[in-house]
Amino acid sequence: MLGRLSPTFVNSRNIWCGGFVALAVGMGIFEYINRILHSQLGENLTLGIRKKLFSSMISKNIEWFDKKERAPGILSGMFQEDVSQLKGLTSQTYALILEATVCLLIGIALSFLNTWKMALVTRSVVPFLILGGMAEQIIFWNSVKNSTKQVKDNEDQLDPYDRANALLSDIIINYKTVISLGEKNVEFLLQKYQALLEEPKRIGIKQAHISGIIYGYSQCIRFLFVAFIFYLSSIFIFKYNDEPEDTYVGVYTLFIAAIGSGSLFSQLPSVSKSKQSANKIFEIIETHKKVKKDQRYGQVMNYQQKQIIQQGEIEFRNLSFKYPSRDKKVLNNFSLKIPMGCKVALVGHSGSGKSTIANLLLRLYDYEEGSILIDGNNLKDYDVKLLRNSIGYVMQEPLLFNISIKENIIYGNSEASDDQIKEVAEMANALQFIDDFSENQEHNPSKAFKLPQDQVMHEQQNEDQNIDTTILSQGFSKKCGLKGSLLSGGQKQRIAIARALIKDPKILILDEATSALDEQSQESFNIALEKAMIGRTSIVIAHRLSTIRNCDWICVLHHGKMVEQGTFQGLSDDEDSYFYKLKSGMEM
Ligand SMILES: Nc1ncnc2c1ncn2[C@@H]1O[C@H](COP(=O)(O)OP(=O)(O)OP(=O)(O)O)[C@@H](O)[C@H]1O
Ligand SMILES: [Mg+2]
Repeated sequence: MLGRLSPTFVNSRNIWCGGFVALAVGMGIFEYINRILHSQLGENLTLGIRKKLFSSMISKNIEWFDKKERAPGILSGMFQEDVSQLKGLTSQTYALILEATVCLLIGIALSFLNTWKMALVTRSVVPFLILGGMAEQIIFWNSVKNSTKQVKDNEDQLDPYDRANALLSDIIINYKTVISLGEKNVEFLLQKYQALLEEPKRIGIKQAHISGIIYGYSQCIRFLFVAFIFYLSSIFIFKYNDEPEDTYVGVYTLFIAAIGSGSLFSQLPSVSKSKQSANKIFEIIETHKKVKKDQRYGQVMNYQQKQIIQQGEIEFRNLSFKYPSRDKKVLNNFSLKIPMGCKVALVGHSGSGKSTIANLLLRLYDYEEGSILIDGNNLKDYDVKLLRNSIGYVMQEPLLFNISIKENIIYGNSEASDDQIKEVAEMANALQFIDDFSENQEHNPSKAFKLPQDQVMHEQQNEDQNIDTTILSQGFSKKCGLKGSLLSGGQKQRIAIARALIKDPKILILDEATSALDEQSQESFNIALEKAMIGRTSIVIAHRLSTIRNCDWICVLHHGKMVEQGTFQGLSDDEDSYFYKLKSGMEM
């Protein structure tokens, strides 16, 4: 059989075979190195972006989080899905595009070397193939954009998947409420969730049709091209008497080019998708820079000051404020001076603006009218980080993290010693119940009757045994559950108070901090609190008379305005006072 082949053909066959074997080995090695390098690059990139995204999100103003497109489910989805999509912009996709392009170019070059006539004719078809491919791409992305835009125009201006994620995160975070409101409520939410997913499903199916056409097209084009080459080669051999050997090599090199062009098209959709995700992510990271400059250092001219609070004297001067999401003023010309070390109670009906004052003092929101001075300096001149470090704030609905009690307390000051932790736990009247957790565990761990929840606590306690038992009891290692769900309301509040005190703050703000305590705990707690407030300027927001009775000064708010102020006794004695009426509705 070999005898029928010309020596030149055998010679060039060997060269070509050798060339392809070398190419195969080269490709194998290249592919291996390429995968390793690019997956490393991709992982490093996504890790870096996740870190950047996290730090920019965490330093945003609270109003940024108030927007509906910033629901927890949407933001956490962004960390997972969108950041992973970014890999499409770097490693694998670009490597594949590069590979396909190299394949295409080598194929074209080799085919020109061997059968330039045929290569020339087949190349004249390529621009049409590429144009066809691009047209498909444009149709694909327009259809995606239009279908999303349609939904956005219709309702809520949010991507349907984002709306479904927002609802889902709401359900998970508030799972106790969702379940306790009964089966009908669960059914209602399930239907709502399903309805929200209908739109993405419709878009998904539409996209599947279009991407099916694109991928089908890219596969189809290769084989049409092969058929075209075969047809052409027969014409060149029989009509123009070309050498069959040259044509044979030419056909194969053109195959390579065809494979290259096919894979090039199939990579383009993932690049476009990645670009969409990149836009979403960098919009957040970029806006972070602007906010950071204004927020952290106050006015730029005071950049160098970065004062820490020395005494804790607070003055509100004609402060007016409305939340960015609402037009109505919630504080109106509010003025008050609180001398250093003084205890002031803010009282008023629900919605009168008490918590808003605390929010502004911590610069969770920024005010535009009026001013707040601390130790005579404008609040906006303080470095936000240092400012918040000097203020102990116990929120109206304190949240604990699903970490141990000790870790929750030192969240306020990670350098605190075990002695300090114990001291603040005692001040917050929390030491007793924390120690009780360890006693229950030690005395009768296996025989005691356990509710399922206790079982979880017990298991979690065993997991975390790294607490120094010489100073802190084993109870400090107890995990608190999601949002502190393994603790009672009163226990959560007391740990939150310990967390605020561990910073040894100059200013203490307690927003309904004792509302979940029973009467007996309240009494002993008030005594402990009295001690904790010594040497600090304190703002107490409370509905309980027993909490505000010991305050030096009482301010009564109504619809964001200060309507009365005075001592507890002075205001209580005046039967016509607003406070007198308010007091009658207050718990003891
Ligand atoms: N993030 C927010 N965005 C828009 N409006 C808000 C926001 N937070 C509070 N408000 C509105 O501001 C007003 C004052 O709220 P604030 O929380 O200060 O009241 P409060 O006196 O603390 O009430 P309560 O005693 O019920 O805690 C209310 O009308 C409330 O609806
Ligand atoms: Mg409030």
